[in-house]
Amino acid sequence: FTHDILTGLNVLITAGGTREDIDPVRYISNHSSGKMGYAIAEAAIESGATVTLISGPVNLDTPDRVTRVDVLSARDMHQAVHDRIEGVDIFIGCAAVSDYRPAEVAKEKIKKDPENGSETLEIKLVRNPDIIASVTGLDTPPFVVGFAAETHNVLGYAADKMRRKKMNLVVANDVADRDIGFSSDSNEVTVIGEELEEPLPRASKKVVSRKLLQIVARRFRKWKHL
Ligand code: C5P
Repeated sequence: FTHDILTGLNVLITAGGTREDIDPVRYISNHSSGKMGYAIAEAAIESGATVTLISGPVNLDTPDRVTRVDVLSARDMHQAVHDRIEGVDIFIGCAAVSDYRPAEVAKEKIKKDPENGSETLEIKLVRNPDIIASVTGLDTPPFVVGFAAETHNVLGYAADKMRRKKMNLVVANDVADRDIGFSSDSNEVTVIGEELEEPLPRASKKVVSRKLLQIVARRFRKWKHL
């Protein structure tokens, strides 16, 4: 089993979705439950790692011995990651980060406009920082694992993403299949790396996480020339 494959290593994981405020009472977010990231955190602890979990708002208990840092927005998550990246050996970006946020957060609740009776409301969005790309772009980056949720050409887009963001491994997830991913307790993924394409069959997120970490541990050692 996987007891000490990560002993002595610092692992930083992002999980859950982010929340981008529109006004004091509204926000933009997504359906991420955080379950995959939390399952990876738990499996990493079992494997002997020291684990920090940077988490968006989720309804999950913190796994034993995991240090959890709660954040709301993508910018908060970006800051929290960079506050804790020093000394990290393996970074796993599992969070569903909002790609865009409202350009301005209204100071007061946006009102329906009875005067002009407008049927539409426009909110301008601006790009959020890409957290994973900001980590791979560091002078001495850790080993970086990303996720790619796709609905079609899953492996092709995932491999593109891996190269573009300079990730060491990418976990490709077919989110068109409703039985896996998002709020589901199970998942089925393909782990892609340099000359690697390894399908992990459908199983609980816990079992998938253990298998993923075996690949991560093996590839990390190779990357480090250990
Ligand atoms: O390009 P895409 O958003 O599909 O890439 C997904 C991967 O990038 C995931 O690992 C996700 O956590 C990460 N990501 C990020 N910051 C963003 C957007 C995505 O770290 N702003």
